[in-house]
Amino acid sequence: MFAKFKNWLKHHQEAGQLIFEQQTKLINGRQFTIRRARFTDISSIIRIEELIYGTAPWNANAFQIELERDHDRLYLVTVYDGQVVGYAGCSFNWYKHESHITNIGVSPAYQDQGIGANLIQILKTYAGNHGYPRMTLEVRIHNLRARKLYERLGFHQTNIKSHYYIDNREDAVEMEVKLQSRGENT
Ligand SMILES: CC(C)(COP(=O)(O)OP(=O)(O)OC[C@H]1O[C@@H](n2cnc3c(N)ncnc32)[C@H](O)[C@@H]1OP(=O)(O)O)[C@@H](O)C(=O)NCCC(=O)NCCS
Repeated sequence: MFAKFKNWLKHHQEAGQLIFEQQTKLINGRQFTIRRARFTDISSIIRIEELIYGTAPWNANAFQIELERDHDRLYLVTVYDGQVVGYAGCSFNWYKHESHITNIGVSPAYQDQGIGANLIQILKTYAGNHGYPRMTLEVRIHNLRARKLYERLGFHQTNIKSHYYIDNREDAVEMEVKLQSRGENT
């Protein structure tokens, strides 16, 4: 136990900020930029959440706290024409050897073009290349569209968490994908 804690502490002392190099992706002839989310993106992310869910599940303060944790969180945004059109977040727990998708959303006008899949694929590759053997997430049991997308990206169901969501007591499906190391996830 103590040895594991020492490894965890060593990793975090050495880790510093998670580094992410900006990427571009051509989708249907349009060039999208995928970069790390900035504090100034929070209002755009919340606007997308309002469009998707009606009200944003996370407030600005929650996103601010997440973005501040730049040693074990990676929040990405997809930008088109200077506008944030999608976002996804991932937490990294070195002690549990687990990466976990915390949040993902794509502005309704930009859905069904591969932006969500691209964000998850980037996070999978990033986590695999940083030595994380698996990635997990939770999804509402009735969100069949998101579940189908995750399955297409290799995730499989591992558990059901009963009444997990506090707003409507909906069950959560826990999903997991095994990751491969550098060069094997693309
Ligand atoms: C779930 C969500 C993030 C997916 O994002 P997205 O950008 O629409 O997802 P993608 O476009 O990558 O994939 C969706 C479909 O588009 C299709 N698609 C992928 N690339 C495409 C392309 N270039 N052109 C047209 N269609 C494409 C895929 O086949 C996929 O269909 P399938 O999964 O039914 O087979 C988005 O729908 C969303 O924000 N939903 C509301 C919030 C939500 O449910 N979040 C998840 C919480 S766990």
